[in-house]
Amino acid sequence: MAPKIELRKYKVSDAKRFFEILNNPNFKYLRICPKNVAGEEEFLRKSKEKRKNNISHDYAIIYNGKLVGGSGIKIDQHRKFIGEIGYFLDENYWGKGITTKAVKLLEKIGFEELGLKRITIIMHPKNIGSEKVAIKNSYKKEGTMKKTISHEGKYADAHLYAKTK
Ligand SMILES: CC(C)(COP(=O)(O)OP(=O)(O)OC[C@H]1O[C@@H](n2cnc3c(N)ncnc32)[C@H](O)[C@@H]1OP(=O)(O)O)[C@@H](O)C(=O)NCCC(=O)NCCS
Repeated sequence: MAPKIELRKYKVSDAKRFFEILNNPNFKYLRICPKNVAGEEEFLRKSKEKRKNNISHDYAIIYNGKLVGGSGIKIDQHRKFIGEIGYFLDENYWGKGITTKAVKLLEKIGFEELGLKRITIIMHPKNIGSEKVAIKNSYKKEGTMKKTISHEGKYADAHLYAKTK
């Protein structure tokens, strides 16, 4: 049977599982690890408000009934017809095409439900897995943006991929 991949809205009770997934030193180019489960609960609690205010629309990635990752669209607050997709997945599930499928589902929400005209995906130039997710979903590379990713006072370039409707 084909694996079933679904998106569902965050629940505060997802905190422990998300903390477990994000607390991974192999997430080299995504450093959003909360300090503890309580910190993650706090983040998840804000998700409803962010959706209501059209700031971001975040979803848990469910694979065969299990929470395996997260994916969301952040809305550009100056140009609300533009959204940026981001994602992360439990390392035990990498390389199965799960994120590629999740982005496909999320893009449909972005274009059809949120009325977006342009969706972008950006990644660190060395984040090959993330770049492949964008390419496999037919996003087109528009260039490399200088000093776009910041972490602990350091700035890195990022590839820009986009799709328009
Ligand atoms: C990026 C990430 C979400 C990809 O998830 P995934 O479900 O494994 O992605 P998919 O299986 O849909 O596709 C990834 C493709 O890249 C390949 N890939 C993954 N890591 C790779 C690497 N380090 N080098 C080369 N190829 C890689 C996979 O084999 C797959 O290619 P294939 O379909 O040709 O086999 C996952 O690796 C992750 O969570 N990384 C840490 C967080 C992160 O970096 N998020 C993105 C921030 S921009």
